[in-house]
Parts: sequence; C-alpha cells; structure tokens
Amino acid sequence: MRTIEIFDTTLRDGEQTPGVNLSMNEKVEIALQLEKLGVSRLEAGFAAASPGDLQSVAEVARRIKNATVVSLARSTPNDIDKAYEALRHAVNPCIHVFIATSPIHREYKLRMSKEQVIERAVAAVKHAKKYVHEVEFSAEDAGRTEIPFLAEVVQAAIEAGATIINIPDTVGYMTPREYGNIFRELFLRVPGIDKVKLSCHCHDDLGMAVANSLAAIEAGVTQVEGTINGIGERAGNAAIEEVALALETRKDVYQAKTNLNLKEIARTSQLVSRLTGMIVPGNKAVVGANAFAHESGIHQDGVLKEKSTYEIIRPETVGFKSNRLVLGKHSGRHAFKDKLAELGYHLQPEEIDAAFAAFKELCDKKKEVSEDDIIALVDTKMVAVAEAFKLESVQLSYGNLSVPTASVRLVRQDGTVLEEAACGNGSVDSIYKAIDRATGEEVTLTDYKIVSVTHGKDALGEVFVRLQQGEITVQGRGVSTDVLEASALAYVRAINKIVERRNEMLVTSGQE
Ligand code: KIV
Ligand code: ZN
Repeated sequence: MRTIEIFDTTLRDGEQTPGVNLSMNEKVEIALQLEKLGVSRLEAGFAAASPGDLQSVAEVARRIKNATVVSLARSTPNDIDKAYEALRHAVNPCIHVFIATSPIHREYKLRMSKEQVIERAVAAVKHAKKYVHEVEFSAEDAGRTEIPFLAEVVQAAIEAGATIINIPDTVGYMTPREYGNIFRELFLRVPGIDKVKLSCHCHDDLGMAVANSLAAIEAGVTQVEGTINGIGERAGNAAIEEVALALETRKDVYQAKTNLNLKEIARTSQLVSRLTGMIVPGNKAVVGANAFAHESGIHQDGVLKEKSTYEIIRPETVGFKSNRLVLGKHSGRHAFKDKLAELGYHLQPEEIDAAFAAFKELCDKKKEVSEDDIIALVDTKMVAVAEAFKLESVQLSYGNLSVPTASVRLVRQDGTVLEEAACGNGSVDSIYKAIDRATGEEVTLTDYKIVSVTHGKDALGEVFVRLQQGEITVQGRGVSTDVLEASALAYVRAINKIVERRNEMLVTSGQE
C-alpha cells in the first residue's frame, strides 16, 4: 500500500470561490478541523495578496502544530518574502511558488519566452529555499504545456532545490488518460524526479477533477491537492473527501491509502459549508444529504435485507451518525459539557456558559435536541466577532394583504439602545431595512439562503447572508427555530463583521 499525502487548499484555492470571503477566525476554525482530519499540508492562503491574508496565514501558522502550513507566492521576491513573513512561526513551513508554463499563458499573460520562464522559476525556488527547507513548485497550466518544455522547467526547479513538484490542470481541461500520461512522461524524462514528491492539482471544469487525480495516483504521484466539498475557482477543485473514499473503497484497484481520519469528513464538510455559505448539494458524493438515503422500494428492500446490496460506503465511515436524541430540557450543565467534549469542542468556561444558555433556550422551543442541533448552535455562537451591535428583539406585523412592517431593538457596544421600524417588500426585507436604520450601516445583501439543520416541524433553521460594503464582503449566519429570527441574527452578525473588518483595515493602513 502506498501512502498518498493530502494537500488541502480549501483556505486558498477554495477561498477563490466567487463570493466566498472568510475572516481570520473562520480560517483558523477550518484549519484546526483540517488538522483533526489529518491532512499533511494545509495551504492557508496567499500572504502577498493583502495584509489581511498575510495576517490569516500567520495566525494559522501559529496555531497548527501537526500539519505543514503552506503559503502561495508568485515567482517574485516580494511575494516570497511575504510568504515567509507569514510562515515564520509555523512548526513546519512550506513556500509554494508558481509560474505559468503553457504557451497561452507565456504569450498572452506573462509575455515571456521559455528561457525567461525557467529563469524566473529557478530564481523563485532559490529565493524561497533561503527561508525554508520545503519548497513546492507549481507549473501553472501544466496540463496545456508542451511536455518537453514542462520536463525542462521541472528539472530546473528540482535542481534549484524544490522538494515538491506540482503539475496543475489549472483550467480543468485534461482527461484522465492524458493527465496520467504527463506524469509517466516526466518520470521518463526528468533525472532526479524520484527524489522529490510529485503532486497533482485538478480543477473540475469538465467534471473530471477527481477522476484525473486518481489517474495521477495510478501514474505514481504521492500527493493530491484539493478542497473540502470540492469548492474553488470556477467549477472548483478535486473534492478531497471523494479522492479519499475512492482510495478507501477501491483499495483493490489503487493499492493506496491516505492518512486521513475518515470519521472527521462529515464534520469538516459541514463546517466548511457553514462558514463559506457554499451549500452541499443533496446528491453530492460522500457528503451530500442523500448520499446514504435509499428512496425506491426495491433499494430499501435490498438495504434492509443486506446493506451491501446498494451501499458501498457506510455513513459511519465518514462520521455521519444517526440523528439520535441526545439531551433535553432536564439535562444539566455537566452532561452538556460532556456532550460538547464528545463532539470535539473544548471550550472555555464562559463559552460553555453561553452555549449552555443557548441550549436551554432551544429546549424551550424544541422538543427534541439532536447532536446536529447542538453543533449548529455552538458553531454559530463560537464565531468570535466583537459585537458592535447585539440584537435584543424583533417584532413583525405581517398579513398577506398588508405591507410587512418590522421593528427591531439593538444595543450598541457602548450600551446605547437603538430602536427602529421599517416597511419592506417582505418580512425579511422589512427586518433588514429596520436593522439598517438602527445601525446606520449602508450594506448590500448579495446572498441569502435558508437551510434546515434537522428535520421535523420544529427543526432549527439556519440562515446564511452575504453582505457587501465597498470592497468588504462578509458572511453571517444565524440559527433559530424561527427563520425570521435566524435571518435577523445572521444579518446583525454580518454587520458586526463589517465593522470589525473596517476597523482592522484602518489599523493596517495606519501601520503602512
Ligand atoms: O490551479 C492552479 O494552477 C493553481 C496553482 C497556483 C497551483 O491553483
Ligand atoms: Zn488551482
């Protein structure tokens, strides 16, 4: 059995998903969960992209102890210096330099000759090597690069000191056979290639990212790059959970395994979905809500008689549990704390108090409280944003023949009570207009989604909003048994993030 290392880029390529913008705390929360999942490398961001990105990479680098933390850098001294500045406190740092190699990119984007590309790649690897031992080199758009030239670039990068060579199918153009053959050619043409780690990185434009990654494994790569839930630029990246389960389920074919703790997959997928607002489609392989549901009578009959008739993966393998009842209104703080620990939360006493108070409130509204309810509750409570505004109450007057009117009461951080009312096109619109008036913030709502956390009439509803103010884009989430209250909570949390982000930007620009 070969071991395939997983290089997770959810926080970098995944964050390039249109509209997704994670705060530093959200990135740290995802990074800590990826560490539990057992990824080998974790690309925390692109430090040179902005001071905020640099700060997030640095914080992830400080907090992660059991995975290599990676920062992306273009092949320029400034990008590489910034990557190192962000990674200097990492236990295991890696600088990931890249330059495009395909004729299209050379001619139209870089306006560089083949020789210039090689020169830049070599200089970049050497510069990164002054800072860290582990340097990954990526030949962007390698899939559309002439094989002899690709082999030349790879050889030069290895001679300059690269320890990992990544061959991305940047535009998701390759077929599995073609992609696998690139690696076979490189093994034949590049002396010393067996001394470095070979990595694949596939995009899903033609829906073949996972198939291409598996073809690369068959051709001999030992590292797969991808994202949780397959999020990423355009159609996304290879979904890590799908690659891992293909290897696990078809060991007979691939003779390879990952070191992932597969039971953490469901939780990681749910966390990434919640924090990015990228809802996992029901029919998504491995982590979709229907991935283990059997609808037709023939299938149900088969599964009842013998699970393997229609089930090739057990839900428990990836950490899905039956949605059992866990705690109720008679449960005490001690039992609640134990349950949190069992679910993987190790909170400070004051955080446990806040979560316990929210749990008790939920018990008054909801007969049955499941693990999923508790996870949703705690995850939304734990997004530690300083609260510029706190929602105290929301009231609504609604009739199908009248104009909805909302009144809200908020408290500003300095204790000032803010009360406002507004009419709107619908209930949510009137609530949001009232909140806008109360806070005085001018924001644009660019996304709004509701999902049900569990099932049944009293299920928790989770609302996700995305707000924009100038160049700031943020997400906010709210959970409640009432979707209008969840809508208001999500909106106020997003506004709090905008205020926090604006303050951070002021501090950073003051430092520059
Ligand atoms: O898709 C791509 O080429 C990339 C590189 C920067 C590795 O994401
Ligand atoms: Zn990519």
